[in-house]
Amino acid sequence: MLERNCREVKVREVRFLGTWDEPSDFVELTLENPGWDSYRPGQFAMLRAKRWGLELPWGRPFSISRVDAESLTFFIQVVGRGTTRLSRLTAGEDVIIWGPLGNGFSAPADTPTLLLAGGMGIAPFRGYIEKHPTPKALHLLFAHRPALDFYPYLAMSEKVGAEAIQEHSSDDLPGIIARIEAAMEEYSGGLVLACGPTPFLRTVQAHALKKNIRAEVSLEKTMACGVGACLGCVCKDGQGKHVQVCARGPVFAAADVQL
Ligand SMILES: Cc1cc2nc3c(=O)[nH]c(=O)nc-3n(C[C@H](O)[C@H](O)[C@H](O)COP(=O)(O)OP(=O)(O)OC[C@H]3O[C@@H](n4cnc5c(N)ncnc54)[C@H](O)[C@@H]3O)c2cc1C
Ligand code: FES
Repeated sequence: MLERNCREVKVREVRFLGTWDEPSDFVELTLENPGWDSYRPGQFAMLRAKRWGLELPWGRPFSISRVDAESLTFFIQVVGRGTTRLSRLTAGEDVIIWGPLGNGFSAPADTPTLLLAGGMGIAPFRGYIEKHPTPKALHLLFAHRPALDFYPYLAMSEKVGAEAIQEHSSDDLPGIIARIEAAMEEYSGGLVLACGPTPFLRTVQAHALKKNIRAEVSLEKTMACGVGACLGCVCKDGQGKHVQVCARGPVFAAADVQL
């Protein structure tokens, strides 16, 4: 499976979107599409530049943000060694990609579906919206700290109902949590999908369980192999059993995972 899903592709473009004051760059990385048109949004890929040396032996996991006939797009926040190097790639360089990996989000046609994105958790929802059979059934609620134009939000808000809430300081958090919970209740007869930092997912999970709302959460655990071979990404499922996020997830029903 590892060999079958591994490809070498060329970088088409690295587009700089902005620098936040942490400091942290935001980039959109576009690669050649090796034939991943039937991927399922919520799936991810492991990326490793071919010229990386032995000091970075493992690829890094990223949600597949969108796919078109020619390209795969990833949306990356620079946080460390691997993401710094990915952000400095140039057109024509070779990248080794493994994927599409993991399970992906449910996408039932005609079901009112709330997409809850926290920060970089917006990445998989770009392709989700583009591939969904009935985008008019979708609503995107995006909570973010850096400026909105660092994210692909505008392109997404042209396709579905969308709202963005910015957290300027921790004083804004109670209002943001209240808005998330109220939106979830509006979709209590439908489906809620969430991707973002763990505290964000905990809020969504707790409210889904409390109000019996059907919800799925996508986890961003640190990974090494990405294909179920190393135990680098283990978490506990709803029954307390250890599961590998790369193999069983990264998307879990809210009741099926401990955060
Ligand atoms: C399924 C999945 C999808 C992801 N999708 C995206 C995406 O679309 N865009 C994006 O920018 N990032 C995404 N991530 C997170 C991304 O994989 C990490 O930010 C990246 O691996 C960090 O690599 P690095 O070498 O730059 O950082 P390192 O040098 O390895 O570490 C630097 C810092 O980043 C933290 N870090 C490392 N791995 C992760 C992680 N998985 N999640 C959060 N923090 C981490 C470390 O704790 C450390 O503080 C995803 C992760 C997973 C598991
Ligand atoms: S990252 Fe190796 S088992 Fe999941």
